[in-house]
Amino acid sequence: MMVYHRLYWSLWLFSCFRQNFGQELQFPEPANGAVGESVVLAPVNPPSTSFLITQWFFNSTFIIAVVSGVTSVNSSYEGRVRFDINTLALELQNLTLNDSGIYRLETSTVGAALMKGETSLQVFEKISSVRLIDPEELLIEDDSSASITSEGTGSITSVEWMKDNSPLSPSNRIIFSPDNRSVSISPVQRSDSGEYQCTYRNPVSSETAKLSLIINCEC
Ligand SMILES: *[C@@H]1O[C@H](CO)[C@@H](O)[C@H](O)[C@H]1NC(C)=O
Ligand SMILES: *[C@@H]1O[C@H](CO)[C@@H](O)[C@H](O)[C@H]1NC(C)=O
Ligand SMILES: *[C@@H]1O[C@H](CO)[C@@H](O)[C@H](O)[C@H]1NC(C)=O
Ligand SMILES: *[C@@H]1O[C@H](CO)[C@@H](O)[C@H](O)[C@H]1NC(C)=O
Ligand SMILES: *[C@@H]1O[C@H](CO)[C@@H](O)[C@H](O)[C@H]1NC(C)=O
Repeated sequence: MMVYHRLYWSLWLFSCFRQNFGQELQFPEPANGAVGESVVLAPVNPPSTSFLITQWFFNSTFIIAVVSGVTSVNSSYEGRVRFDINTLALELQNLTLNDSGIYRLETSTVGAALMKGETSLQVFEKISSVRLIDPEELLIEDDSSASITSEGTGSITSVEWMKDNSPLSPSNRIIFSPDNRSVSISPVQRSDSGEYQCTYRNPVSSETAKLSLIINCEC
């Protein structure tokens, strides 16, 4: 009788493990956020069974835990985190650059199977105040050099240039700085006249500045 009892117990445990074992909590993709805004980190496959313990961690520090319905929050996150017990989603508000890193979710379901998953968050400062600085001097074809410099604030991950709505490509006369923030044209030709656009981008924002350049004839 004892033997049967033990066998059933093992089978029951085994079936619980089989259901959840190796089932990772999955996240759609690494998340991006903007300074001062909010982000929601939610697994795509939250378990349907009830949870005994659910915990979220950032890098290796503890953020929030829910144990049998009782929630505790790390005091340094007080007032800016929300947790949804049904979806296991964590909402982080008022993001700072320091929130970039790895977020780990762990939950123990009935049957003691542990499910884990992790995702990453990268926080960017929104781009603003992008402008182009006019070369100002009179530009004469075949004689002058023009240098257009851009500036702006925020976390800049790429800089793109266009002229008259077509991408501006480097050539033997058109040279970009290593960070692409300025371009120099030397010597200028009449065909360099037109509208230049410079776009600063990151995954959460972009901004474009424009400048018209007039190249004068040598006459
Ligand atoms: C709370 O978070 C801070 C970092 O924001 C960390 O240094 C601290 O260890 C955490 N507290 C606990 C109890 O994990
Ligand atoms: C957001 O964070 C900033 C700087 O850390 C702080 O000054 C501000 O009070 C916070 N706002 C809220 C709504 O928590
Ligand atoms: C980010 O972390 C650095 C160093 O740990 C700290 O000096 C700074 O005040 C933090 N910034 C914010 C916005 O919390
Ligand atoms: C968290 O981890 C990431 C990547 O591992 C690291 O770049 C970041 O500085 C860490 N942040 C904190 C506040 O520990
Ligand atoms: C500069 O722009 C070119 C394309 O115009 C791109 O291939 C290159 O990666 C950019 N470099 C930087 C540092 O953004």
